[in-house]
Amino acid sequence: MTDQSRAGSSGSLGSIGVEIAGTAMHLPSTKLTNHDLEQMMDTSDEWIIKRTGIHTRRRADIAGGETTSVLASEAMRKALENAKIDPKDLDLLLVATMTCDSPTPSIGCIVAREIGCRDIGAMDINAACSGFLYTICMADAMIRSGQYKTVGVIGADTVTRHIDYSNFGRGAAILFGDGAGAMVLRATDDPSIGMISHEMHADGHGAKHLFIPSCEIDFPEEAEFDERKLDKVQMNGQAVFKFAVTKFQEVIQETLTDSGLTADDIDHFVCHQANSRILDSARERFGIPEEKLLVNIQKYGNTVGASIPIVFDELMSEGKLKKGQKVMFLAFGAGLTWGSSLWQL
Ligand code: COA
Repeated sequence: MTDQSRAGSSGSLGSIGVEIAGTAMHLPSTKLTNHDLEQMMDTSDEWIIKRTGIHTRRRADIAGGETTSVLASEAMRKALENAKIDPKDLDLLLVATMTCDSPTPSIGCIVAREIGCRDIGAMDINAACSGFLYTICMADAMIRSGQYKTVGVIGADTVTRHIDYSNFGRGAAILFGDGAGAMVLRATDDPSIGMISHEMHADGHGAKHLFIPSCEIDFPEEAEFDERKLDKVQMNGQAVFKFAVTKFQEVIQETLTDSGLTADDIDHFVCHQANSRILDSARERFGIPEEKLLVNIQKYGNTVGASIPIVFDELMSEGKLKKGQKVMFLAFGAGLTWGSSLWQL
């Protein structure tokens, strides 16, 4: 959907733009390498690298205090410092997560308390690995509406607590890692800065391919109930792989068509890191050079909602992002969900 066709946009971008004022990431300290996994299950470093591109990932020590809210608060604190913005100047906090510390309060509320915000809106958004992408689409719209000026957006997950590190769970165990990434978005008076176009998709018919069951009723019809699966990630790897390769390519084309651009016009593709082979398929299909699509999955694995802001923060820290550049954010994940968000910096 382009801005011109978005409800409430009155056929123009209006007078407000959205700049990315600061970014940061925060990772748990413990590394879990492929060699560590070899000690826990029947797998090999070679198998994992060949199938996924992953060498290592981080695992949060929840009992030791590395909860989702702690990772999220640290990421936001650093992003505000980098943006040179006082936490008291934030007027909204949106957190993409599917691994809240507990059902309530939200991570948003805890982060607001921990970083010293006063009386602001705060909430969580759950769209699994597409969560951060959904969140920046919403934040852009809320800032352009004129009702919010400075919005903190975070992607934070500690999904490894839902992983079975035995042979039984090895399909998913190799993929996931924990982490948090954050951005501070701020209103500017140049409406050409910010989101140009976006696509948000979901298809609950595919929910059965990637889910975490809490009780027997959460098991899809075709899956047999097994107590060992409760509270652990259940994934049909091949079905998710096929979905991701197809939708990833479709949504890039959809976004380029809607915005009247070609792949060559995009300076950076900031992609959810799920599997290096999925990213390669998109690069090959659109002729995207390596330097325009940063792959960091080898270091962090799939960090769910955190993967996109972590990639963006790495690009920022390496000085690769320049004013005027076009950046296409792309994600897919459980739900099933997928989408894009095209920005001009
Ligand atoms: N280590 C070693 N062998 C493993 C293994 C592991 N961790 N997991 C599965 N295997 C074995 C299987 O038992 C199977 O053995 P068999 O041929 O003797 O039956 C073989 O490897 C192939 O299994 P398969 O499931 O077909 O592997 P795959 O090529 O599909 O790769 C994934 C598995 C998970 C890496 C791949 O399907 C994938 O990346 N899917 C997408 C997942 C994803 O992106 N999820 C997140 C979305 S946000």
